[in-house]
Amino acid sequence: FDPGSYSTLKLDLDEGILTLTVDRPEALNALSQQVVSELWKAFTAIQDSCTHDAGWPVRGVIVTGGGGKAFVAGADIREMASMGPDSAAEYARSMQGVTLLIEKLPVPVIAAVDGFALGGGCELALACDFIYASEAAQFGQPEVNLGLVPGFGGSVRLPQRVGLGPARELIYTARRIDAAEALRLGLANRVLPSRDELLAAARETLQEIAGKAPAAVGLAKQSIAGATGRPTNQGLEAEAEAFREAFTTDDMREGTAAFLEKRKAAFTGK
Ligand code: HXC
Repeated sequence: FDPGSYSTLKLDLDEGILTLTVDRPEALNALSQQVVSELWKAFTAIQDSCTHDAGWPVRGVIVTGGGGKAFVAGADIREMASMGPDSAAEYARSMQGVTLLIEKLPVPVIAAVDGFALGGGCELALACDFIYASEAAQFGQPEVNLGLVPGFGGSVRLPQRVGLGPARELIYTARRIDAAEALRLGLANRVLPSRDELLAAARETLQEIAGKAPAAVGLAKQSIAGATGRPTNQGLEAEAEAFREAFTTDDMREGTAAFLEKRKAAFTGK
């Protein structure tokens, strides 16, 4: 992953858990075009490593923000101020591409939100499998304050996550909500008191998941992504396809045999 080749991201791989920190504290980690292209590069590298041949070196990803005050305060307003409609659409599409990459990644990704997750920051968090928040987290889609609309997936994923009514209210009012409200809405899965406890909780959950059959976890993720927003019959078709695929793995044979032999499964990732 050559952490040295990124100027706006910090990458730290520790026992199979990759912590990816968006690190532009001087702009509250705003998603400049440079950040977007580095996110693309990092998630592509993770995607490429997620095979049995590569040994599944990354079993989970934590996305967080550097500097302590913000997760990500949105798209880069300074850059957007001088964009025309076509370059703005291209900017939106490039970050939307990153969000799709995150959703297609066969390993779980947790957004660890400490501080502001606004606009594009909230949208980056929404592309992750789930969100853990610290008590200092603040979420919102403030685009209409700037004469903008969500552009990195918020109009699609916020209603999926919290339902149409609350999503409309958040987007039309540009209101900010705290961690407790995010938890109540189901935007955040958990709230932890401090940043350290937040990162520790995210790591603990990813390590728990890393004890399972990796291809099965990837297929479960693929199955949910394949069903989201689709009619029931198409969702069920995506599920049946993933179920079929699980039966092609050694780990499925091992997992079921271990149950019948009353022993712990030894998964190999094949
Ligand atoms: C560029 C940003 C920024 C952003 C903060 N900064 N947010 N720069 N883009 N999104 C910069 C500030 O200009 C300032 O730089 C420095 O970071 C610190 O920010 P302050 O405002 O001084 O901090 P504070 O007073 O604590 O206020 C924090 C804040 C506020 C409430 C988060 O910064 C804020 O409202 N930021 C914008 C949030 C927002 O509207 N995001 C949505 C963007 S639209 P200087 O140089 O002055 O120190 C979006 C669309 C997505 O995301 C889709 C696009 C296609």
